[in-house]
Amino acid sequence: MTSIDKIKSQLEQFAIDSLDTLEQFRLQFLTKKSELQELLSEIKNVAPEERKSFGQQVNELKQKAQQFYEEAKAKMECQAVQAGSDLDVTRPSTAVTLGSMHPISIMMNEVCDIFEKIGFSTVSGPDVEDDWHVFTALNFPEEHPARDMQDTFFIELHPDILLRTHTSSLQVRTMEKQQPPIRVICPGRVFRNEAITSRAHCIFHQVEGLYVAENVSFAEMKQTLLYFAQQMFGKDTKIRLRPSYFPFTEPSAEMDISCNICGGSGCALCKHTGWVEILGCGMVDPSVLENCGIDSKKYTGYAFGLGIERMTMLKYRTNDIRLYFENDVRFLRQFKAAGN
Ligand code: DAH
Repeated sequence: MTSIDKIKSQLEQFAIDSLDTLEQFRLQFLTKKSELQELLSEIKNVAPEERKSFGQQVNELKQKAQQFYEEAKAKMECQAVQAGSDLDVTRPSTAVTLGSMHPISIMMNEVCDIFEKIGFSTVSGPDVEDDWHVFTALNFPEEHPARDMQDTFFIELHPDILLRTHTSSLQVRTMEKQQPPIRVICPGRVFRNEAITSRAHCIFHQVEGLYVAENVSFAEMKQTLLYFAQQMFGKDTKIRLRPSYFPFTEPSAEMDISCNICGGSGCALCKHTGWVEILGCGMVDPSVLENCGIDSKKYTGYAFGLGIERMTMLKYRTNDIRLYFENDVRFLRQFKAAGN
């Protein structure tokens, strides 16, 4: 207790009137080796009945020293500025330009908003994944080309660890944790070892959707995706589903929307077909449900995965995917989120 009183009175008498004395104060009261700091480490050696009050007093003293120091420091800095500079506080300040949201983020948020309004909740998961969540649980055969070194970025020292090539890994993560009904939407970044061109990049973004419950049908999926397309691209948008193949869905389809640039009459973007592909979808393969601990006799589900860059290019009518990764502010500043 006497040490506390001693330090307290030293502290109260200490006058800080220069940068030197400020530093002396710091050395005397705030460094690890200061007496005050040593008292803190003494707390545990004090008799139990006195420990609480001792600890309280030492901590109060420490806070007081810290506060005293901060106040004196702020004062010194202010004095230094005023004394040594030609500061003119009446000068107009330079305007700060506000940043805007990246077009990819705007699009991801828009997609999630549309689905959240019809009962989907948004979940996320790791970019660095393992083979089980990206491939094995999703029914990819051992020799499937997507596992090939040419498509997937593996971690050199550990071939089981990789950068996810699609957000479908989040289907597995969700189903492993939760029993139906499941209705989620999963936005995320994905990676593929591909050459960078105006139409493809090694990093891009997807939003995955998953609905698992009793009696979920293909017809429901189709209607939900039509609703989405019209919310996103306008009421007159049409969709068409083409049969396709994905290891994790059966049956599988790819969905096109009517080209919103030429209105369906044919242009370069839709390669004169009037249609542009925006997503893959299908009924979740029963063995995927089983792999994730869900009873495939009781439940069915649908899933879909849509490419954000493709949709952003369509919506904003840009023709080079690389623009989204170069971060040229002249490009980025043109985008504003809806409502901004
Ligand atoms: N994961 C697929 C891809 O990256 C997209 C996809 C297709 C996701 C069908 C799905 C689906 O959920 O059901 O190409």
